[in-house]
Order: sequence, then C-alpha cells, then structure tokens
Amino acid sequence: MNGPRWREDFPVRWDEDNYMTRRELAKFLTLGSGLLAGANGLIALIGLTNAPPAAPVQRIAGVGDVAPGSSLLFRYPTPEDPCILVRDASGRFDAFSQVCTHLSCAVVHAPEDDALACPCHKGSFSTRDGEPTAGPPTRRLPRVVIEQRGDDLVAIGIKV
Ligand code: FES
Repeated sequence: MNGPRWREDFPVRWDEDNYMTRRELAKFLTLGSGLLAGANGLIALIGLTNAPPAAPVQRIAGVGDVAPGSSLLFRYPTPEDPCILVRDASGRFDAFSQVCTHLSCAVVHAPEDDALACPCHKGSFSTRDGEPTAGPPTRRLPRVVIEQRGDDLVAIGIKV
C-alpha cells in the first residue's frame, strides 16, 4: 500500500481531472451572461406584443332612456362584467363597475342618498367619482369611461 489509507477510500485521480483555464471560465461566463441578457430582451418583447386588447366601444343607452335621478344596468366590457350608469338630478352621467370593491357584492343606486349602496355590509360609494363614502370598502369603484355621441351614450374604456 502506498500513502495513507484515506487515499484508497477517496481516490482522486488528478491526472484524469478536467481543468478549466481562467480564459475558458471567462469565456463561459461572458457567453452565459449574453444568453441571459438576450433571453430577457426576448421576454420583454413578447410582453410588449401581448398587450391587452383595447377596450371595446359599446352603446349603453340613449340619452333620453335614463331620467335624471335614475340609473341603468349594463354589462361592459364583457357580458360577465356588470356596470351601472347613473344620471344625477342635474343630468350628469357617470358609470361604474357594479362590483363592490370590498367583497364583490353588486352595488345598487340609492337616489335618495345620491350614492351607490352595497347591501352586503352597508358600504356606500359616491355617484360622482366612485370613491367609498361609508362602510368597509377602501377602494373606489372602477369608472366606465363614457362619451355622448349624438343621442347615444357609449362606453369607451375602464379606468381602474
Ligand atoms: S361587499 Fe360591499 S360592503 Fe362588503
């Protein structure tokens, strides 16, 4: 037996080992970094080209269909998204998502309070800007951006 016993238990054949020079390591790291940077650029490009589609333009109602102090329910931008159009006593129109920002119950128009009320936990929102005015909600209702085109009111987007 040659040398200490541990050499037999942990045989390392230095002459068979693969060595890497500093130059090879630097080349490997440079290439690896370049590939990662390229992959990041590709992912960013894919993210830019997969931007969400523009909100649809959708007729909600005729201007004369909603009397001052009343409201109208509609769906926007998809048939699964309930919204509410409110016309205040002065004739101004505002539209919001009907989904309460607390726990997603449907808000209803409370013309006597000039508010959008949530019956689940007595939440309340302003009909002017959708900001919470009472109860547990802390976030405002998403606004449906509307435009008057001739005698029609059309939804043109959502402002979260
Ligand atoms: S779900 Fe509307 S106040 Fe709680």
